[in-house]
Amino acid sequence: MNKDQALLKSYNLNGLELPNRVVMAPMTRSRATNSENIPSEELQGTYYEQRASAGLIISEGSQVSKQAVGYIHTPGIYNNDQVEAWKAVTKKVHDADGRIFMQLWHVGRMSHPDFHNGDFPLAPSAVNPESKSYTYNGFKDTVTPKAMSIEEVKQTVQDFKNAAKNAIDAGFDGVEIHSSNGYLFHQFFNATTNLREDEYGGSIENRAKILFEVIEAIKEVIPVNKVGLRLNPSMDGIFGMKMDEETIPTFDYIIKKLNDYNLAYLHLSEPFTDVSDIPYAETDIAKRYRPIYEGTIIINSGFDQEKGNKVLEEGNADLVAYGKPYISNPDLVERFAQNVPLTEWNPDTFYTQGKEGYLDYKKETA
Ligand SMILES: Cc1cc2nc3c(=O)[nH]c(=O)nc-3n(C[C@H](O)[C@H](O)[C@H](O)COP(=O)(O)O)c2cc1C
Repeated sequence: MNKDQALLKSYNLNGLELPNRVVMAPMTRSRATNSENIPSEELQGTYYEQRASAGLIISEGSQVSKQAVGYIHTPGIYNNDQVEAWKAVTKKVHDADGRIFMQLWHVGRMSHPDFHNGDFPLAPSAVNPESKSYTYNGFKDTVTPKAMSIEEVKQTVQDFKNAAKNAIDAGFDGVEIHSSNGYLFHQFFNATTNLREDEYGGSIENRAKILFEVIEAIKEVIPVNKVGLRLNPSMDGIFGMKMDEETIPTFDYIIKKLNDYNLAYLHLSEPFTDVSDIPYAETDIAKRYRPIYEGTIIINSGFDQEKGNKVLEEGNADLVAYGKPYISNPDLVERFAQNVPLTEWNPDTFYTQGKEGYLDYKKETA
């Protein structure tokens, strides 16, 4: 294969020129090992710099407030010290001719009282995911969260707005709202996790409302063409998420409505697990949403080089995001271009601390 492959063609991302269509997917790596949740130039800076030849890097999920945290050693983007620290990271990426968006994160009910001095995590409704939280004291059973008051919902919208502004101040090229993978927004969308009877629950429109309030709020502080968002419509059986007959119609509604905004992109995941037996599930996400969404689609999950080129050639997506392959192949783009075999990733060091399994995967290309 050569430079003619679809993955290696340039792309204009609503004003941002990308040299290729290979995106680094957002991945939590738990390397912000300090009580202030601050990244460092040496660790996160070097990690993202090594991967700067990606068409676009999307950062690890970064919490928009103290309340939003759910995992150990994840970085934040809600105070000045964090903004200053991220500046050194984005500078390294830009000095290496890269581009980087920040993923903005609130885990909702996936958090744990250990992160909040014993207080309960906040979520749309008091429904325990019956899952595990990764705390400083190891894996613990999740708890029944506290249902957010209207004021707490409004505060969360403000937190996303502030975080988006902070991310741009820190030098990011844009932000990705993490409305995916069973976290806060996904908990609002789903009828089994959102039992509210106020304006944020009940109908599909109400369950989607917080997302559109967040987009509207962010629009006030940064250009909307620098805002992307992520959705995982057919997620089932992970973090207590259960699909029902309203799940796909809810995503259909959200995605159609996203056409009203001139977003940077819509980032979609194919199902994380085999959902072919679930009558409510859509098994081919890119194909379903390509005719519905008019802007840029990034597709993710389980892609290799061949599948990535195919989905682009078939016209079902514009860009392809790679997760695990990017952990162990910092020069993924060059490997695709030069036909160099990929290095396997080691799951044992996905969430450990320090440089091992983080900065020590070697480039094998010129
Ligand atoms: C170590 C690890 C951390 C992840 N952290 C995040 C995250 O912070 N935010 C997110 O949206 N997805 C996260 N994901 C999911 C990935 O972005 C991606 O959707 C998933 O790995 C599937 O893509 P792949 O088959 O190319 O790896 C993570 C995945 C892995 C393996």
